[in-house]
Amino acid sequence: MKTLIAFATKSGTSEKCASMIAEHFDSPDIVDLSKNSNPDVRDYDLIIAGGSVRMGNLHAHLIRFMKVNLRKLEDKQMAFFVCCMNKGEKFDQQVEKGFPKAIRENAIEIAHLGALLKWDKMNLLERSIMKKIVESEKLEEPKIDATAVEEFVSKVKSTVGL
Ligand SMILES: Cc1cc2nc3c(=O)[nH]c(=O)nc-3n(C[C@H](O)[C@H](O)[C@H](O)COP(=O)(O)O)c2cc1C
Repeated sequence: MKTLIAFATKSGTSEKCASMIAEHFDSPDIVDLSKNSNPDVRDYDLIIAGGSVRMGNLHAHLIRFMKVNLRKLEDKQMAFFVCCMNKGEKFDQQVEKGFPKAIRENAIEIAHLGALLKWDKMNLLERSIMKKIVESEKLEEPKIDATAVEEFVSKVKSTVGL
C-alpha cells in the first residue's frame, strides 16, 4: 500500500510525529508541506497528514493541503494528526475550526499526539505569551504522547487492512 505522510511544522514536533508514524509503514513517502506544498495525492492509497496549532489556528500549510485536495481526498483512505497543547473540548474546537467538514466526517481518525514547547525557537513575544499561558493554566511541560502515536498507527493500520 503506497503511503504518504505529510506534515506542517513550526518547530519540529509534527515532523517528529511524522517520523514516529513512518516507522510503522513500509517505505512511506514523507513530505514537508513547507517544501512541497502539493504532493500528488492520486499517487497514494493512504494519506496521513498532520500539523500543529498556534494561536488557535491549524498550520496554514496543512489547511492549504486539505483545501486544494478536498475532492481528490474524497475516495482515499486518510487520517490526520495534530500537535498542540490543548486537549478535550478545546482540542475539539480547534479541530472543528481547522479541518473541513468533509474531512472530519471521512477521516479514519484525527488524533491528538501531544506537543513540545521549544522555548529556544520562540521569539520574545511568543515566549512571553506562552510563559503566561503555562503559568496561569498551571500546565505541565507538554510532550509527544507516544501511546497516542501507537494507538493512532494501530487504528489506521487495522482500518486499511494492514
Ligand atoms: C506561539 C505559540 C502559540 C501556540 N498556540 C497554541 C494554541 O493556540 N493551541 C494549542 O493547543 N497549542 C498551541 N501551542 C503549542 C504548539 O501547538 C506546540 O508547541 C506544538 O508542539 C508545535 O508543533 P510544531 O513544532 O510541529 O509546530 C502554541 C505554541 C506556541 C509556541
